[in-house]
Amino acid sequence: TDLITSIMPIIDRWKQEEGPLLPILNGILREFGYVPREVIPTIADALNLSRADVYGVVSFYHDYRAEPTGRHVLKLCRAEACQSMGGDAVAERLQQLLGVRFGETSIDGSVTLEPVYCLGLCACAPSAMLDGEVIGRLDEAKAAEIAAEVRS
Ligand code: FES
Repeated sequence: TDLITSIMPIIDRWKQEEGPLLPILNGILREFGYVPREVIPTIADALNLSRADVYGVVSFYHDYRAEPTGRHVLKLCRAEACQSMGGDAVAERLQQLLGVRFGETSIDGSVTLEPVYCLGLCACAPSAMLDGEVIGRLDEAKAAEIAAEVRS
């Protein structure tokens, strides 16, 4: 397929080097923004590794996503202080508004929703981080604002 054709030069570039797997994954990441699942068998064959080995590395490294990341990344705190301040309700609401569950990217590619476990902002729980910016005291209104922002 086209996908395989376009990763072959990356594989060929590194195949003979020592420790080729990470540079290959990096190359693919740079090219596609993620590591498509379909390329895993090709990489495994080229490097004489098992698919499970390659897959293990892909899923171990957070950056080597098996799915593309959205244009925005929303991290929602799921730890205790935030939960006790209504974090669950906000999490529910946001998943609804954005049309994604935790760990997913919306179909329009606008946002990826990720859980985090304490952002160090327990004093203004429930808290979140949108593209690296912290947001505290989340409520329905702020959830709606976030949803509007990622769509704009
Ligand atoms: Fe959510 Fe600490 S528990 S910021």
